[in-house]
Amino acid sequence: MAQVTVQNRLGENEGCFTGNAEESLGVQAQDEGIPVPFSCGVGACRTCMCTVLEGLEHIDREAVGPQQIPTEEDAILSCIASLREDTPPDAQVTLRSENL
Ligand code: FES
Repeated sequence: MAQVTVQNRLGENEGCFTGNAEESLGVQAQDEGIPVPFSCGVGACRTCMCTVLEGLEHIDREAVGPQQIPTEEDAILSCIASLREDTPPDAQVTLRSENL
């Protein structure tokens, strides 16, 4: 699966990991020690929102649950979004966590 890089809102790298399609990107980031903030955890606030700087085509916005509020075209709610099942292993995804 894809290499996922997470930046903070200042554009500084917070870490990276090899992502999967089973868990949300936010949970995977937290498991890797990248403190992407969560609040509701179910796609109903904007606490976990990330702007996708690279690799938007590899992301399923509602992989682990329905998105209950709108976001910008290039943004995801990382508590419910994950990689698509068909993401190639050499794909690159870069996220900017807007509240980190
Ligand atoms: S934590 Fe509320 S939408 Fe993700």
